[in-house]
Amino acid sequence: MGPTYSHFYDEPLNLVRGEGVWLFDEQGNRYLDCYNNVVSVGHCNPNVVKALSTQAALLNTHTRYIHENVVRLAEKLSSKFPEKLDTCIFVCTGTEANDLALQMARVVTGNYGAIVTDAAYHGNSVAIGAMDPDRKVEVGTEWLETFEPPNTYRGPHGDGEDLAEFYANEAGKAIDRLSAKDIDLAAAMLDLSFDSNGILIPPEGYLEKVTDKVRAAGGIVIVDEVQAGYCRMGDYMWGFERYNVDPDIVTLGKPMGAGHPVAAVVTTREIASKFADIDSYFNTFGGNPVSAAVAEAVLDEIDAKKLLESATEVGAHLAAGLEKIKQRFRFVGNVQGSGLFWGIDLVKDPSTKEPMSRQELRHITTLLKNEGVLMGSTGRYGNCLKIRPPLVFSKENADQALAAIEKTFEKMES
Ligand SMILES: Cc1ncc(COP(=O)(O)O)c(C=O)c1O
Repeated sequence: MGPTYSHFYDEPLNLVRGEGVWLFDEQGNRYLDCYNNVVSVGHCNPNVVKALSTQAALLNTHTRYIHENVVRLAEKLSSKFPEKLDTCIFVCTGTEANDLALQMARVVTGNYGAIVTDAAYHGNSVAIGAMDPDRKVEVGTEWLETFEPPNTYRGPHGDGEDLAEFYANEAGKAIDRLSAKDIDLAAAMLDLSFDSNGILIPPEGYLEKVTDKVRAAGGIVIVDEVQAGYCRMGDYMWGFERYNVDPDIVTLGKPMGAGHPVAAVVTTREIASKFADIDSYFNTFGGNPVSAAVAEAVLDEIDAKKLLESATEVGAHLAAGLEKIKQRFRFVGNVQGSGLFWGIDLVKDPSTKEPMSRQELRHITTLLKNEGVLMGSTGRYGNCLKIRPPLVFSKENADQALAAIEKTFEKMES
């Protein structure tokens, strides 16, 4: 295996079995999974496994032949979106979905430039990987400008009024910087959970204002729902529904297949048709009958188990517990997020907001693992403790997670 692989823990976990919110290592130790959003409907969900194995035993081909599974999936999926977002194209990964979305934006607008928030992660292809300024591979990024994300705790605009306006202006300035290079805007790509910025909830009206600026410049809005989608943030199925504006293209991934590689671009018929006039697109594995059966089973589970309602309710319970933890420990700078997606911004000193180091976060996640709870870290400085459990997380699970955080933070204090 290549040397680019890295593990979360100095003593890597060898996981051998999963069930619901639980993971088991080779010694039979049980861990509460507070990290893995991909298995949205629970590890080894029996209905998803059944859909997968039944179809795998029957037929697996590709979209050069017709198959009812992929049509049924497209219908079910698009029924979860505003009416105008009625067209689906299936791929295998979030990177592929974003890469295709960018290609579509360029074809449809005739422009080349793109803007993303600073430190955003949208995937790892040549084009999409270039959007992550931390990547060291030189790929040529004159077509890209990054802008300040709406971080109301750490950002330059404080936490006063007009924050939506201030932060939307940051997007406007990025568009201006492209113009100064004679590059017109094709798209803004936005992860509305701002995962790699530590999980942020933008001020009210933010997406509307950014969208106005993007469209006025001739670009389109791509919302990357790989993290924020599939009920993750509570209250809504998709992150963009929190705002009063519909994006032009939505990309999906990770939780869509509960561990099986399936992803999608959802857009308007008009955009998809304009793209098809110029280019054809074939993806060998995208939308195959097995992947389609799996993705449909995930949607069915979300509905049958009322996982949106559950993510909202359990999320509120978790939020209340995290707030108490914030009050108790000095080094908790901020608690940010919603639903079942939270970041705890940990600081060396609350007055300076100097971030805790990545090593300290690694120590904290290791202590949590020793308590039988798996969490991660994220954020511009790697100092945010990341909580993002499967959607089948209960209030009881949340209480266990909160108790483990408290116990770990007590150790950090002493
Ligand atoms: C917001 C977001 N978009 C896209 C991707 C890329 O998805 P994939 O790893 O399936 O290519 C990720 C992966 O972490 C992500 O977090």
